[in-house]
Amino acid sequence: MGHRLGRVLITQEEIRERVRELGKAVARDYAGQDLLLVGVLKGATVFLADLTRAIDIPVSLDFIGVSSYGARTRSSGVVKITSDLSVSIEDRHVLIVEDIIDSGRTVNYLRRNLQTRRPRSLRLCALLDKAEAREEAVEIDYPGFRIPNQFVVGYGLDFGGLYRNLPYIAVLEEEPSG
Ligand code: IMP
Ligand code: MG
Repeated sequence: MGHRLGRVLITQEEIRERVRELGKAVARDYAGQDLLLVGVLKGATVFLADLTRAIDIPVSLDFIGVSSYGARTRSSGVVKITSDLSVSIEDRHVLIVEDIIDSGRTVNYLRRNLQTRRPRSLRLCALLDKAEAREEAVEIDYPGFRIPNQFVVGYGLDFGGLYRNLPYIAVLEEEPSG
């Protein structure tokens, strides 16, 4: 089955505005505290790069890589850490920065894993929330946009490794054959 870019769901300008608001909220909530932003590779890197510049308090950054096995447009729920943090999070305020919450399995696995390292606090910021696709409950402390249950690409999100560099978020459509 072929795929092609469909309609733009969230424009560059809408993303910019929402990221600005999220950054303000984070800065307000963590003022005077030592905050570590943990970006989830690779999808959240574009969002994290913009979000961090919208937060006007001192923050540190780190990354964690996770992969969920399964078909390309569906997450299987089997999650593995492919690249770990480079710092200890013990006793630190940690904010996980994710691109999208779909079934909820990946982030819940990540949360459980990071919680065992005894951070001082652990919260979640996610740019996109595909709420209808949820299979496990997830509390998103800083949600960006709620989107319908469609596969999307751009602004860090990929399909087979491609489209991450698009400055907007678009729906990926299946190409009718024949
Ligand atoms: P979950 O475990 O089902 O919540 O899936 C989360 C992960 O699946 C995300 O971090 C993405 O890597 C990937 N994913 C889920 N939905 C999409 C989508 O619409 N576009 C691109 N990647 C997605
Ligand atoms: Mg991801």
